[in-house]
Amino acid sequence: MTERRHDRTFVRSFFTSPTALEGEDDSAKMIRSASGLRGMQAPDVWVPDNEDATAPSMRDEGVANILDVVAENGAEFPGEIHPRIVWHRDRPETRHRGLKHMLELADPANGAVDHLDGFVIPEVGDIDDWKKADEFFTIVENEHGLDEGSLAMSVIIESGEAELATGKLRDEMGKDTNNLERLFLFVDGEVDYTKDMRAITPAGDLPSWDELRHNTSRGASANGCIAIDGRYDDIRDVEGYRERMTENQSKGMLGIWSLTPGQVVEANWSPLPPEKDQWLLDDGREQVELEDEDGVAVYDGDRVSLEDTDEEYVLRVDGDERRLASDELTDELLGMVEYVPSMDDIVDSMEEFERARESGTGAIAMERATTLRIDGVEVDLSTERMWDEATYQASMTPVSLFQDVYEHRPDQHDDLAERYGENVVERATDVGT
Ligand SMILES: CC(C)(COP(=O)(O)OP(=O)(O)OC[C@H]1O[C@@H](n2cnc3c(N)ncnc32)[C@H](O)[C@@H]1OP(=O)(O)O)[C@@H](O)C(=O)NCCC(=O)NCCS
Repeated sequence: MTERRHDRTFVRSFFTSPTALEGEDDSAKMIRSASGLRGMQAPDVWVPDNEDATAPSMRDEGVANILDVVAENGAEFPGEIHPRIVWHRDRPETRHRGLKHMLELADPANGAVDHLDGFVIPEVGDIDDWKKADEFFTIVENEHGLDEGSLAMSVIIESGEAELATGKLRDEMGKDTNNLERLFLFVDGEVDYTKDMRAITPAGDLPSWDELRHNTSRGASANGCIAIDGRYDDIRDVEGYRERMTENQSKGMLGIWSLTPGQVVEANWSPLPPEKDQWLLDDGREQVELEDEDGVAVYDGDRVSLEDTDEEYVLRVDGDERRLASDELTDELLGMVEYVPSMDDIVDSMEEFERARESGTGAIAMERATTLRIDGVEVDLSTERMWDEATYQASMTPVSLFQDVYEHRPDQHDDLAERYGENVVERATDVGT
């Protein structure tokens, strides 16, 4: 696996805040309140956003506000701080303005740079453009006596050019003509990407851009960086945001943009395993959660029904009726259920595999069993899954994420202990290390 070069190996939440608001007594109001966020409301990466979130006329004031707030509150802020500056692949004057802002923000005389972890560069173009941005960082570091590469660079992928550049980076990184190892986050910007791609949808919705998300995740993996999905503008649609994150996670994109403190909370919890295990049943349209009643997984919806006629079983799924013998019913139901392990279960399985490995066994069968109840009819279900070293390593991802959070976010220890219990937290921090 390509080495990751930054303190954080996982970033769940990327939270932008407008740096200067016109017409307010304190134009820094929003970044001032964001700098006080703690626990699950505080993001892994906080981005005082001097680009799209801030009006063009307010951006010089925005820089002054970032300096003021970060110098005052940056030391106590529990996440990393990466302001977004202005940049554009096609506009040298915008890049020059961005350079001037970076020089000001990173000036030790202004008291903020000790608490700044890097900068976010929007609207990057092809690989040559990435190198220009990197060179500006190097100039800023040299100008202010900072170590070369000490400021991380994150980019917003919002053009086809930038998407293609993620595939070229491996050939460029590590050359002594650049410091591209400073690259940290690849963040998708689907709104501008849609414009750049000249995509059209009938209702004007944003396409889901699965390919972009896959390509960004692949580029991040190949270059030791971290992939972050773009903003989810429907800020009160919590379910939709959660679904988007579940999709992202299956692509290896474990972080997402957050626009509000409420979205930050969702983004921080989402990639962590649930506190309770859960059986799901496909009711013909969607996966529904089954109620746990003393170890029995109970379905009480309307789309699936089951009847035992003594001779056979009658199973109806979303209007489709089937008459089945007992073993056929078990097979059918096994195809409809899914098991979502809790943190406790994941750690249990990993510990069980570790014990087997220590005693010289390379592969074991891991059993999952439950009794399913539909319309009062109970059916025992059991599956066996082979676990070997590769399964163990793949299962490690959510646990490694948990461990990274535990190490870097002491302000979230209480929330984690409350959700999982002290014992599970302790075992999850130990397993696999
Ligand atoms: C979209 C937005 C206007 C909604 O604001 P809202 O309706 O006040 O949102 P909420 O009710 O969830 O906010 C709760 C509190 O958090 C504050 N807050 C919300 N989003 C915030 C943000 N991104 N940064 C800092 N503070 C924020 C609000 O000011 C509010 O504070 P208050 O209780 O002291 O009034 C606001 O979230 C925002 O400006 N987000 C950032 C937009 C952005 O980054 N755009 C650039 C994307 S390219």
